[in-house]
Amino acid sequence: MKAIEYRAYGEPDVLQFVERPDPVPGPGEVLIQVHAVSLAPGDWKMRRGLLKDVFPARFPVTPGRDGSGEIVVLGAGVTDFAPGDGVVFMTDRVTSGSYAELIVRKRDAIVRKPAGVSHIEAAAANHAGLCAWLGLVDAARIGAGARVLIHGAAGAVGSFAVQLAHHLGAKVAATCRAGSVEYVAALGAHTVIAYDRDDFAAILRDYDVVYDLVGGAVHERSYRVLKKGGLLLYLIAKPVVERGAEYGVTVKRVAIEERPDAIRAVMALVAAGAVKAQVDRVFPLAEAAAAHRFLESAEPRHGRCVLQIR
Ligand SMILES: NC(=O)c1ccc[n+]([C@@H]2O[C@H](COP(=O)([O-])OP(=O)(O)OC[C@H]3O[C@@H](n4cnc5c(N)ncnc54)[C@H](OP(=O)(O)O)[C@@H]3O)[C@@H](O)[C@H]2O)c1
Repeated sequence: MKAIEYRAYGEPDVLQFVERPDPVPGPGEVLIQVHAVSLAPGDWKMRRGLLKDVFPARFPVTPGRDGSGEIVVLGAGVTDFAPGDGVVFMTDRVTSGSYAELIVRKRDAIVRKPAGVSHIEAAAANHAGLCAWLGLVDAARIGAGARVLIHGAAGAVGSFAVQLAHHLGAKVAATCRAGSVEYVAALGAHTVIAYDRDDFAAILRDYDVVYDLVGGAVHERSYRVLKKGGLLLYLIAKPVVERGAEYGVTVKRVAIEERPDAIRAVMALVAAGAVKAQVDRVFPLAEAAAAHRFLESAEPRHGRCVLQIR
């Protein structure tokens, strides 16, 4: 099979398009022909070595944290799937990733892909939707009428989170660059603040929940827009200094873990049309280095870029 791998941290050029032996599923596992994979910021941050203290690499590394594909071989003991079934899956960050034509996953870690959702849509919604869902549903349990602010709203996680919060009946405010304001408003945000034009902390007050996908100074200023007893959620992005006790708010880091139940919920939302998968650009597997260069550039993006493998 063909795959992408790198043998040292570095620039996008360390990504090599290589030939490898096909993996073989063991008992309780399935072999999946990968059709599409999301291109996440974590992929290039790992490749640059920026996350090596948290997720040390074991070279060679194949990037790719999720994917959508089709089962080709069932391992012993797997009886409830069949070759040809469409599935979505996550990978473990420190073992072999999904920028590859074939991958082996445990049966318990895969989720059926809804028939009406394409592989590209499923890949775009998979990890991004999981991050949005674990924050807004699992951690914050937001419901109708909740006042929610989402930072980084034009990105992959943010664009899913805005739609999810809107679908759940929340009143959604969001931040993004000026050129993306119309895009984010169309996702369901009632107030959109351009971070390169206005200061959200001077405009918004009394929010129940902030989901911070940016970190650093954005995190610091977010305390001011929360009401007492509010919740500041964040993903690991730029470093943050927690000041919850000072402001009377709860601060929580959203830990992204393999959660098939949450991915199932995400896929159901996409299948039902409650949330639309946001696909920015699609790159072929052989152009993974070009895709990483694009991800690291300052070019505006709406939603997720996807690597199409088949
Ligand atoms: N395991 C984890 O902890 C985990 C999991 C998933 C994601 N993450 C991190 O969470 C972040 C979001 O992930 P993603 O996949 O959604 O990334 P993404 O698609 O690159 O989106 C990031 C968004 O943040 C926006 N942004 C940048 N500076 C901003 C500011 N000052 N105010 C408001 N928005 C700003 C960007 O807008 P412009 O491009 O228009 O400037 C972009 O739309 C990334 O840093 C990622 O590494 C961590």
